[in-house]
Amino acid sequence: MSADLPARLLTWYDRNARRLPWRVPPGVGGADPYRVWLSEIMLQQTRAAVVGPYYERFLQRWPTIQSLAAAPQTEVLAAWAGLGYYARARNLHRCAQVVADAMGGVFPDTEAGLAELPGVGAYTAAAIAAIAFDRPAAAVDGNVERVMARLYGVEEPLPGAKTKLRAHAAALVPAQRAGDYAQAVMDLGATICTPTKPVCGLCPWNEGCVARHAGNAGDLPARAPAKVRPVRHGVAFWLERKSDGAVLLRRRPQEGLLGGMVEVPGTPWRGETWGQAEALEHAPVASEWRALRGGVRHTFTHFQLELSVFAARTSADVEGQWCVRADLDDVGLPSVMQKVIKLGLKAERSS
Ligand code: ADE
Repeated sequence: MSADLPARLLTWYDRNARRLPWRVPPGVGGADPYRVWLSEIMLQQTRAAVVGPYYERFLQRWPTIQSLAAAPQTEVLAAWAGLGYYARARNLHRCAQVVADAMGGVFPDTEAGLAELPGVGAYTAAAIAAIAFDRPAAAVDGNVERVMARLYGVEEPLPGAKTKLRAHAAALVPAQRAGDYAQAVMDLGATICTPTKPVCGLCPWNEGCVARHAGNAGDLPARAPAKVRPVRHGVAFWLERKSDGAVLLRRRPQEGLLGGMVEVPGTPWRGETWGQAEALEHAPVASEWRALRGGVRHTFTHFQLELSVFAARTSADVEGQWCVRADLDDVGLPSVMQKVIKLGLKAERSS
């Protein structure tokens, strides 16, 4: 295969680079490590279009690593609400504290040094090393795996093919302009070498692409059959205070799924469905609870959640975090809880 693949891709990138809020233009280099790190953490598992507004808001509010490190964790989690995978937000905050306090505010400038930071895995370490420090590191995510599978015609299914695809990706990384190159492969995967219907006619690598010649680019990478997500069940309790309409919330424990996030109180989530009597043992107060029609479904990485929602109004003096209506948008509820709130408010309007 042609030895000039990186050069071709860089020429393509010079003309076609996406403009993204965290990006310095092609050929400029010297991106601010804080901005690169912040964007790469947000971009783990989340699309660039979704990340954009969050990134801008974070930067405006916390323009330096020191300011982010000094912020209360609850505020960071609230600003993150809606991006999902909340362990990322807790690690982001911890990482800011490590860099600000133990490293004098200076990020490590090697892939290995970066990989030791909280929340920075192999992909993110390589991406930051390349983009912020122009280190020739191979940042290999699902997009890059797809591009490599097609370019080299790797037909072995994922995840088994990962090592092979990573080796192909690493062998291509150029010594110069490694940061632009890393982002160029990302852009190629996002705009040309897309999961379905790749636009091979516009691809700077089409001449040497094995899958294109074989006519199976759209079918690669092959994947081992996906496991079915198990279903978990829970009941959430929408409790309204009669005096002012405030809604009862609580904070989840730091450890585990949605750790440290605010939620509507509820039962644990488990494989079996809940009977009414046993569910009500977890209610925040004894009351005339009524089941709302509908319920909430939410997909997490490892399971599908089905929540029933019970509602009641109370004048009892229930201890807890009462949230008035006007503040519900600002407490930073995770997406699944925003669905519960929506259902509670809707049921109220129609009752
Ligand atoms: N996905 C992960 N990192 C990215 C970046 N720097 N630009 C665009 N998409 C990305």
